[in-house]
Amino acid sequence: MPAKSMEELVSLCKRRGFIFQSSEIYGGLQGLYDYGPLGVELKRNLKAAWWRAMVHERDDVEGLDAALLTHHQVLRHSGHEDTFSDPLVDCRRCRSRWRADQIGGACPACGAKELTEPRPFNLMFKTTVGPVEDGASFAYLRPETAQGIFTNFKNVLDATSRRLPFGIAQMGKAFRNEITPRNFIFRTREFEQMELEFFVAPGEDEAWHRHWLESRLEWWAAQGVPRQALRVYEVPPEELAHYSKATYDLMYRFPHGVEELEGIANRTDFDLGAHSKDAADLNLSAQVEENQDSTARLALRDEASGEWRVPYVIEPSAGVDRGVLAVMNEAYAVQELDSGATRTLLRLKPHLAPIKVAVLPLKRNHENIVANARRIKRDLQALGLGRVFYEHTGNIGKGYRRHDEVGTPMCVTVDFQTIDDDSVTVRERDSMAQVRVPSAALGDFVKERLATG
Ligand code: GAP
Repeated sequence: MPAKSMEELVSLCKRRGFIFQSSEIYGGLQGLYDYGPLGVELKRNLKAAWWRAMVHERDDVEGLDAALLTHHQVLRHSGHEDTFSDPLVDCRRCRSRWRADQIGGACPACGAKELTEPRPFNLMFKTTVGPVEDGASFAYLRPETAQGIFTNFKNVLDATSRRLPFGIAQMGKAFRNEITPRNFIFRTREFEQMELEFFVAPGEDEAWHRHWLESRLEWWAAQGVPRQALRVYEVPPEELAHYSKATYDLMYRFPHGVEELEGIANRTDFDLGAHSKDAADLNLSAQVEENQDSTARLALRDEASGEWRVPYVIEPSAGVDRGVLAVMNEAYAVQELDSGATRTLLRLKPHLAPIKVAVLPLKRNHENIVANARRIKRDLQALGLGRVFYEHTGNIGKGYRRHDEVGTPMCVTVDFQTIDDDSVTVRERDSMAQVRVPSAALGDFVKERLATG
């Protein structure tokens, strides 16, 4: 049962410490959010799951972590300086500004139809580098992580001796000066991406494109966003980004409407060609500007013919923040209990849950119970499963409700019986079932439940 409204999710996020408006005490800065104590865990867990699947579990992908500040030549040759813009209109009456393609001919603020002609507004943030402001020493905050991968293509190739097909994966911040950031963490000005650039021989690109579509759908299902919650949208030619020959967008039903969660693009030889020295000699399929600024040829020499070949690129590019929103939306449920009361719960997959296990002493001032609870917390923490939380409120019912709401898969209660026979009560989030487990067997029990959960 997905969330009924964005308000419910926003309220849960703030109340329980997942996500806060950035610079809130100064009135907030639009389109920017901060991840709180539980949000940072959830987001890191989602990114770790992506890295595991895209890098560690494959034998054909390398990782990268490139700088966020990017040489302006990179974004000139990539086409972003010229084309990375949205159409901006001003309302002549109330002076508000809007994205022309998101409004229906009238100002959403005051209803006036007197709008300016749309003009392109470049979304990249520009900043000066170093102490001299001479106009030439500027850089951009990267609008996608992908360009750092293309500009390091030769470095990675030389360092790893890879042959096609192979990929380079990267995740991290990207920045876009969105005209109208909105819908909570869906469209922000600073966000994170998880991107893979998978380099293939020309001619094999379409088969790999389909492969990555299937693989990404499977990955989202493993994060709790099932296949039936996603729609595959084949982007029509007139809507394609400047570098793309074909793109599949994975569309998800967010609380505010059906929108893109991830794009899987066939970027052809556009980017490597655009960043290559003497691009005109490379027999590219893509239209790229002649490049005399680069010092490298981003191509591989074909072993049989000796000719230089620029690989094609398939790019699955997912938004981390949109992923967090989708995962939370799918997991969120309000359940009616037999007693007539309701409980709110986040049925997160255990590997994503911010807290894996909460340990609750029945009495918070009982020395022996507290000592046992602390020992159990320490032992569970040492298993390396993620965060184990010592919950010292001393109110078991409240503790269960709180942990249901933040998605903790299991609560372990330490009580008087623990002192007698060294056993604890394990209470499971989804079924609310309670079982008694000897504390010596608790580690294996918890590991097994988290793995199968
Ligand atoms: N390298 C390809 C690329 O950047 P994109 O479709 O512009 O393609 C990829 O972005 C993903 O990044 C999107 O599917 C979305 O999940 C995320 N994304 C893009 N703009 C965003 C924004 N303003 N706020 C949050 N996430 C965003």
